[in-house]
Amino acid sequence: MTALQIDPPARLLMGPGPINADPRVLRAMSAQLVGQYDPSMTAYMAETQALYREVFRTANDATLLVDGTSRAGIEAALVSLIVPGDRVLVPVFGRFGHLLVEIATRCGAEVHTIETEWGTVFTPEQIETAVAEVKPKILAVVHGDTSTTLAQPLEDIGAICRAHDVLLYTDVTASLGGNEFETDAWGIDAVTAGLQKCLAGPSGSSPISLSPRAVEVIESRKSIEAGLRAADGSDEVRADPIRSNYFDLGMILDYWGPKRLNHHTEATTMLYGARECARILVEEGLDDSIARHRLHGTAMLEGVRALGLEPFGDLDHKMTNVVGVYIPDGVDGEAIRSELLHDYSIEIGTSFGPLHGKIWRIGTMGYNARKDAVLVTLASLEQVLRRAGVRVTAGAGASAAQDVYAS
Ligand SMILES: Cc1ncc(COP(=O)(O)O)c(C=O)c1O
Repeated sequence: MTALQIDPPARLLMGPGPINADPRVLRAMSAQLVGQYDPSMTAYMAETQALYREVFRTANDATLLVDGTSRAGIEAALVSLIVPGDRVLVPVFGRFGHLLVEIATRCGAEVHTIETEWGTVFTPEQIETAVAEVKPKILAVVHGDTSTTLAQPLEDIGAICRAHDVLLYTDVTASLGGNEFETDAWGIDAVTAGLQKCLAGPSGSSPISLSPRAVEVIESRKSIEAGLRAADGSDEVRADPIRSNYFDLGMILDYWGPKRLNHHTEATTMLYGARECARILVEEGLDDSIARHRLHGTAMLEGVRALGLEPFGDLDHKMTNVVGVYIPDGVDGEAIRSELLHDYSIEIGTSFGPLHGKIWRIGTMGYNARKDAVLVTLASLEQVLRRAGVRVTAGAGASAAQDVYAS
């Protein structure tokens, strides 16, 4: 078979992620490979750890990359922390909360949930009541759930967890870099992310950070693989090791730490990309990046409202970087998305589960949290809506966004 060289169409990705990668990240990813233990490679690994400490706002030594998409980071954290039979509490406010339930269940946890309607979040009191009732070892909660576009406030949850001697895990795949997030100040024990949202990279690497409390649990479960153990038999071998080899964070920490004990072969090209994503963010400044996401997110929100579209969910808790909008009555949501893609080369998102066919999700994140991307999307959406018979005021969307920029 002859296959042509890859030549993807020039899309503007304005969905809930992935988004267009920053060209700097793509350039970093085209660099040549070096050996796994080449001093330049181990130096890049150490630099990547230092950069992500800034991105996560943490002093955690155990800050590193898990190879794989965001889900790999989630799975590594949960499988490494959960001993089968452990109680885990998951507050579910969207699809990715259900994913935490699914993964924790597969890890053998006794999983308890509290649920709130999609489009709403929990109060700290609701979470504290459930923690006191369930008495879990781990509270696992999504920060920004892309499926509903909302962010669960976490500022007070760390203190609640400490008071009840609970470990706090959170998934910041969709929120990190574009929304306030503080690992240490908020008392987070384990946090995992991805590159394909506000970090302006491709999916395929999951930056994570672990508190000393979390590392202690993981270290107590670590085994050294046969073939790597010290000849004098001094290395620990446990009868009940972490139930995944690839995602055993104890072994991964030994690979990233001073021992450099062989585990997987680090995904060099993804590391180049992840390092550049963090370099871009740190260069811009985390606060400035969050402010940029807030500005363009607000411009998009006001733009869609001016087009007569109703935003979804509790806007007081909306993530800065994505907005959900109800598909107008009588309009075929998929036909609109298809026309936007094929005539304007712009992608916006559909949605899952109870929201499928009811809302579109429009993102302004990472490299695409830009004025031109917002204005072009609003102007194009207006045209497509009008052709579908929706009454829209000419120029209203882009004009409302311009007013946000002017103010
Ligand atoms: C909040 C959240 N968690 C997890 C994931 C899963 O990420 P991945 O597809 O990179 O595994 C996503 C993807 O959209 C997400 O938004």
